[in-house]
Amino acid sequence: MEERSNTILVTGGCGFIGTHLCHAMINAGQKVRILDDLSSGKAAGVPESADLIVGDVADPEAVADAMAGVDGVIHLAAIASVELCNRAWVRSHRTNLTGTLTVMEAARDAARPAIPVVWASSAAIYGAARTLPINERTVPSPMSPYGADKLGGEQHGLAAADIFGVANTALRFFNVYGPGQDPHSPYSGVISIFAERLGSGQDVTINGDGQQTRDFVYVGDVVRALMASLDRLQRRRRLDQPAGFDAINVCTGHAVTVTALAETLRDLTGSTATIAYGPPREGDIRDSVGDAARMQRLLGIRAETRLEEGLTRLLDAQGETRRLATAG
Ligand code: NAD
Ligand code: UD1
Repeated sequence: MEERSNTILVTGGCGFIGTHLCHAMINAGQKVRILDDLSSGKAAGVPESADLIVGDVADPEAVADAMAGVDGVIHLAAIASVELCNRAWVRSHRTNLTGTLTVMEAARDAARPAIPVVWASSAAIYGAARTLPINERTVPSPMSPYGADKLGGEQHGLAAADIFGVANTALRFFNVYGPGQDPHSPYSGVISIFAERLGSGQDVTINGDGQQTRDFVYVGDVVRALMASLDRLQRRRRLDQPAGFDAINVCTGHAVTVTALAETLRDLTGSTATIAYGPPREGDIRDSVGDAARMQRLLGIRAETRLEEGLTRLLDAQGETRRLATAG
């Protein structure tokens, strides 16, 4: 008898991380169904064999339909920009918190035992952490609506596991970068914006004094963490092991200041553009660097891609996109 392939629902599968994930899962022989409203994601980048449903992750009917017959869920759909969430407070709350609950409820109702869910939380839940590096026992204190909703999702994740038997893992991504993150949106990640601007000879502006730190993790490493997490939950389910909630940092353990990042990118591109300094961003976290020990222990993986290597891959990809745009 032919073995049925593992069918995975990916919410937000047309976004930056989702597109990389869908390609990796299809290459690994899995069947992928995507639910995305295309608000920031693009259908063009997703693999042809993926089944795309255009819909809203906070719409219970759309999510229940998308969940029918799947073996696991990776939930990435969100408004991912801290700044855009500040501007669109209630709208982002609906997507970022109600959307997460909608996915968990549909996972509870779709099968017995419930369908396992791996989902994107964020280092933003930690806010102004006093002790570095930040481990999962650090008391969360989010500084933004975005961080508050991700933390709310985790609290519901705990209830989903304890009360409803929905095994779920919240991956607390630190700052993810790599090819495919839109460099032209002001709501994009700093690496994507700086790489594109310096790579095309334009100046960049740092918010504040540039001494704020981030833990930049390459998208390929994040994809490995997502796949390993779902694999772990599915294995537990097959072995009838009890449902649980886990929160795991996805990070490198290395802190980089925003000024050092800009200078590295200027060196790598050979740019002579100016690195300017502007006012600090409202609610900007000062220091963010994670402790990766739990990721290594529970998932058996490390974020292996060194920053210069990841940045070089990104610059090559952005250069190729510009070349094709000029040629076409
Ligand atoms: P992205 O904006 O590229 O992708 C998000 C996707 O969700 C997009 O395709 C968008 O169209 C879709 N989406 C948004 N609202 C939706 C809705 N209401 N219904 C259905 N789809 C909707 O962002 P990303 O960087 O790929 O982030 C993926 C996840 O990882 C998000 O949950 C984000 O909060 C989280 N995260 C990202 C980072 C990072 O550095 N990029 C860090 C920590 C956490
Ligand atoms: C990012 C993610 C968020 C995630 C969080 C986890 C994006 C868009 N946001 O938020 O989803 O949950 O990491 O840690 O990927 N900066 C400048 N100049 C610019 C742009 C940014 O100086 O032109 C600075 C910012 O003020 C900030 C740093 O760069 O100090 C990083 O900003 P950003 O890339 O927007 O990420 P986070 O806010 O950390």
